[in-house]
Amino acid sequence: MFFLRKTLLALSDNVHLKRFIMLHPLSRRVTRRFIAGETLDEAVHAVTKLNGNGLTATFDYLGENVIRKEDAEEAVAMYLQILETIEKTGIQANISMKLTELGLDFKGTFCAEKLELILKRASLGNHFIRIDMEGSPYTEKTLTLFRQVYSHYKNVGVVVQAYLYRSEKDTEDLISLGARVRLCKGAYNEPPQIAFPKKSDVDENYLRLMKKLLLQGNYPAIATHDPKIIDETKSFARNNGIDSSRFEFQMLYGIRRDLQELLVKQGYRVRIYVPYGKEWYPYFMRRLAERPANVLFFLSSLLKG
Ligand code: FDA
Repeated sequence: MFFLRKTLLALSDNVHLKRFIMLHPLSRRVTRRFIAGETLDEAVHAVTKLNGNGLTATFDYLGENVIRKEDAEEAVAMYLQILETIEKTGIQANISMKLTELGLDFKGTFCAEKLELILKRASLGNHFIRIDMEGSPYTEKTLTLFRQVYSHYKNVGVVVQAYLYRSEKDTEDLISLGARVRLCKGAYNEPPQIAFPKKSDVDENYLRLMKKLLLQGNYPAIATHDPKIIDETKSFARNNGIDSSRFEFQMLYGIRRDLQELLVKQGYRVRIYVPYGKEWYPYFMRRLAERPANVLFFLSSLLKG
């Protein structure tokens, strides 16, 4: 399982496989389980349905590691359009974005300027923007840029990955800043020098960070589908008198819908990460890597036609 995960993550930036999968006539249908669609209209439709079931959402316009400035500009325009759409329709949603989609790989202040543009517009409507966390080459850059913009805009939060050794210290620093943190396990291929190789250690670290965030954090987001961690979060909150309005659970579109709805029925806040757009390949590969059964399902769907 460990090797399958590593292999799938390594293939998530393979251009040949990307071309093959993206051009396969059945891919689009199969990936629909995890991706709300290719257009904003389709994503709005998915969010409206989620809102109807008591779930809030966060839009993610798929894209990462852009190499052309035009693509980063296009993503910025899309995020501004999402903000307008949220205001026009009144849907319950905010935004999640990756900094490499806004040009974090470019030299100079390009990415910072684009991010500030979005945050400025978002602050006018009191919208919240979450900066996703990408692979470890971007951890420090992302946190540095986050701290820079957080000194001017409080409507922005960031993500901590429990698999990284550094995350305990990052979590403490973010707590003392008063910043909103989403806690996740981590979805990239990381070496043992910087990340726990064993899943049980990742889970243990997740629980440790969850407790810190619940006790001292600012409206933390507990992002996981792991029923054991979710149960531990619920009982930790209960035992420490932490009201369910002081944090939210977050899950990915199409994963453990049963659990998403159960938590809402139990009175918890649940936000669903809703990805959409044409650049779905790396996101889709990360979802395959998380669960080997997804690979079998995907391959058999392609073969059955
Ligand atoms: P785990 O992998 O242990 O899975 C627990 C159970 O959930 C599984 O047994 C299965 O039932 C179900 N499950 C999990 N993944 C599944 C899948 N792909 N298909 C079907 N079932 C699945 N990562 C990151 O590095 N940076 C980020 O910014 C974010 N952002 C983010 C936002 C939100 C809202 C979520 C929920 C997750 C992320 N992640 C992320 C991804 C995260 O790091 C992690 O890879 C996935 O959430 C899978 O881990 P779980 O916590 O669900 O546990």
